[in-house]
Amino acid sequence: MSGRVHTARRHDSALKHVTGQALYVDDLPEPPGTLHAALVLSPVACGRLGKLDFAAAAGSPGVVAVLGAQDIPGRNDVAAGGQGEPLFAVERVEFAGQPLAMVVAGSLDAARAAATHVAIEIEEETPILDIATALARQAWVQAPSTLLRGDPDAAMKAAPHRLSAGFSVGGQEHFYLEGQIALALPGEDGDIVVHTSTQHPTEVQHICARLLGCDFNRVTAVVRRLGGGFGGKESNASWVAGAAAVAASVTGRPVKIRLPREIDMIATGKRHGFDYRYTVGFDDDGRVLALDAVMAADAGWSLDLTPGVVARALTHADNAYWIPHFRAVGYACRTNKQSNTAFRGFGGPQGVVVMEDALDRIAHRLGRDPVELRALNFYAEGRNETPYGQTVDENHLARCWAEVKQGGEFERRRAEVNAFNAAHPVLKRGLGLFPLKFGISFNLPHMNQAGALVHVYTDGSIRLNHGGTEMGQGLFIKVAQVVAEVFKVEVDRIRASATSTAEVPNTSPTAASTGSDLNGWAAWEAANTIRQRMVAFAAEHFDVAESDIEFADGNVRIARPGSNQVLTFGELANLCWMGRVSLSSTGFYKTPKIHWDGAAMRGRPFFYFSFGAAMAEVAIDTLTGESRVLRADLVQDCGSSLNPAIDLGQIEGAFVQGQGWLTCEELWWDAKGRLRTTGPSTYKIPGSRDVPPIFNVKLLANAPSREATIFRSKAVGEPPLLLATAVWTALKDAIAAVGGHKTAVRLDAPATPERILAAIATLKA
Ligand code: MTE
Ligand code: MOS
Repeated sequence: MSGRVHTARRHDSALKHVTGQALYVDDLPEPPGTLHAALVLSPVACGRLGKLDFAAAAGSPGVVAVLGAQDIPGRNDVAAGGQGEPLFAVERVEFAGQPLAMVVAGSLDAARAAATHVAIEIEEETPILDIATALARQAWVQAPSTLLRGDPDAAMKAAPHRLSAGFSVGGQEHFYLEGQIALALPGEDGDIVVHTSTQHPTEVQHICARLLGCDFNRVTAVVRRLGGGFGGKESNASWVAGAAAVAASVTGRPVKIRLPREIDMIATGKRHGFDYRYTVGFDDDGRVLALDAVMAADAGWSLDLTPGVVARALTHADNAYWIPHFRAVGYACRTNKQSNTAFRGFGGPQGVVVMEDALDRIAHRLGRDPVELRALNFYAEGRNETPYGQTVDENHLARCWAEVKQGGEFERRRAEVNAFNAAHPVLKRGLGLFPLKFGISFNLPHMNQAGALVHVYTDGSIRLNHGGTEMGQGLFIKVAQVVAEVFKVEVDRIRASATSTAEVPNTSPTAASTGSDLNGWAAWEAANTIRQRMVAFAAEHFDVAESDIEFADGNVRIARPGSNQVLTFGELANLCWMGRVSLSSTGFYKTPKIHWDGAAMRGRPFFYFSFGAAMAEVAIDTLTGESRVLRADLVQDCGSSLNPAIDLGQIEGAFVQGQGWLTCEELWWDAKGRLRTTGPSTYKIPGSRDVPPIFNVKLLANAPSREATIFRSKAVGEPPLLLATAVWTALKDAIAAVGGHKTAVRLDAPATPERILAAIATLKA
C-alpha cells in the first residue's frame, strides 16, 4: 500500500522546500514591537577582558538595550553537559568570535550597526591555536581517555612487521543553509515561548530557563523545521535561543536573533580536526596484530560535546577490522578557537581514517593489494569482538564489500586505471574502497529514549507529535508512515505538528542518527495504544471477537458470520468518541540491551551496527593539484528501509558532504587565531559539479535488522558520510601512481590542491 512503511514517499515538505513555501523561523510573522538582537564578539583569541563600554552603542539610533553578562537574570552558563561556558564572556576571552554582549534594537540593521560601537578592552595573551601546542602543554578540556584491549606493547614487539605514521584531518563548517536563529515571545508571569532552529528543543528549554533563573515549565521551545542542522544545531542553537530569551525577558518584547553567515561561522563550533600518530604490528600476510594510536582532537576552547565525539572516535578506530591488541588514546586538546561540536558522524569519521591509512601503508610495505588486505582483516566468525567488548552481530561487511566490488566492476576498472596511469604522465587516476561499520545509539545510554503524542480526531484524521526535529532528513514522513501502518490508513491522513517541549517533554536531541529509530517506536507505541482501545470498543459494540476486527486500506472490517460490516476508519473513530473512548495517547520508547561504562570504555554502547561499502574513482592533475571524483559506487545497509526514497537522498547527501570534508572544505585561521574563512567565497563546500558524474547508490537488499528496530529498519543519517573515506583513499592511490606505487603517501585532509601538490613533491623528493 502506498504511504506505509517500506515504500518510497517523497519528503512531506519537498514541494514547499523547492517552491520556497516551507516556513522557517525567519518566515514567521513578527508580532508588533519585535526587536532584533545583534552580537558583539571578541576581536582577539585570548586575553583578560577589561571594560566593555556600552555608551556609544546604547546611544545609537533605534537601540533599546545593550546587554552583557551582568544583565542575565539567572546563571550565565550555556554549557550543554558540564558547566563553565558563559553566554557572554566574563573576565577572560577564549576565542576570537566569543560573544561578549548583544545590542537590541528596533531593526536588525540598527542592532548590527550599533554592535560595532561597543568599546572593548582586552589585555591580549598568546593563544594556543593548534593541536601540537596544546598536546605539548597538556592543555585539555577533559582528561585523556584510553580504549584498551589485550597487550598492545607485547604484541607490537612480537609482531613480524611494524610501521608508524601520522597525519591530520581538518574540521568542517556545518554550512546549514538556514543560519542560527531564534524568536522569543514573552508571555504573562515571565513565561516565554521560543521558536528556534534547534536539534535539541529540550536543551533550548533548559538553557533558557537557566539563563532566566526560572523553572523549566515557564519555557516552551518550538521547532517546526530546521534549514539543516548536521550537528551544528545540537548545542549551538541553545545559546542563540538563550540570548533571544534573555533579551525578550529584559525588554518585555518579542526578540529575534538571526546570525549573519559571517558571525555564524565565527561564533559557532565545527567538526573537530584531529592529529594522529599510530603504530601497527602485522604478520607476513598483512593481518593486523596490534594497533597503538594517539588521536588528538581540537576541542576548541570549551568542553561542549567533545567527550562524546572523542568516545565515538575511539570506538570507531577499529572500523571494520578485528584487531586483537588495541590501544587508542584520545586527547581533547584545548585551543583558543571555536568550541568544536557535533557534526554528522560525531567523531566516527575521524575514527575510521586511522585503520584506512594503516592498511594502505601495510599493503605498500608487503606489496599486497590494499583491497584484499582490508577484507582479510574484517570482523568475522570467531573474530567478532570489538575492543570495547561489543560483539559484531549480523555482520554484512563481506556482503557489502562483494556487492560494491561487483557493481563497480573493480577488477576491470583497476586494470583500466593502471593502463590510464601508464599512458598519462600528467593526469593520474586512483581507486579507493572503504568498508563501513558504524554503531547506532547515543554513547550515553540514558539519552536513548523518546516520546510521542498521537491524537485521532472523529473524522479519522490523525495528529502526530514526537520529540524528534525535522531538519530535512525526512524524519516526519518516516514517523508518519509508521503511524499510517499501525492504523492502516493513507499517510496523508496524518499531520505531523511542530516539535514542542510542551507536547512531548524531556526529549533527547535529534542526533546520532537515532531520530526515526527512537521516535518511530514511540509513535508506534502511542498509535498502537489507541488502536487497541478502538479494537476493544468495536468488539464490544459489534459483539464480535477482537480477532474479527481488521484494519485495512483506511477501513475497519468487522467479520461476522454471514455478513461483514465495513466502516471507514473515521466512522469507527466517531463511534469510539460516542462511546467515550479516549482517542489520544502518549507513547514512550527506550532502546533495549545497551549499557556503557565510560571510564573503563567497555560495554554495549550500540544497539546495532550499520554497514556499508564504497568504491570511488578520482583523477588528479599532477601539475595543478586539482582533483575530481569521477565515479562512486555505494552500498548502504538500511535494514528494511522505512522509506527507500528518503534513504537514498540521505546517502547521496551524506557522501557528498563527506567528500567536502575530505577534499575542498578548508577552515583557515590567521596567526592571531581569527577565522578567515567566513562565507562561501572563502570556504568551499561541494557544488553540484562536485557530485560524482557516475553515482551508483544501492540499499543493501533483503537485510532486515536482526534487532527489534522499528519495522526492522536501520538508521541512515550519518553512516554514509563515512563512505566518502573512499575518495581520500582513491586520492592517495592516484598520488602513489606518480611514484609507480612504490611508496605510501601521506595526505592530510582536506586534500586541497596545495596538499595534493605537496604530497606529490614529497613523493618525488
Ligand atoms: N539531512 C538533512 N537534510 N539535514 C540535516 O541537517 N543532519 C544529519 C542527518 N541528515 C541532517 C541530515 C545528522 S548530523 C543526523 S544525526 C541525522 O540526520 C539526524 O536525523 P535522524 O536521526 O532522524 O536521521
Ligand atoms: Mo548528528 S552530528 O548526531 O546531529
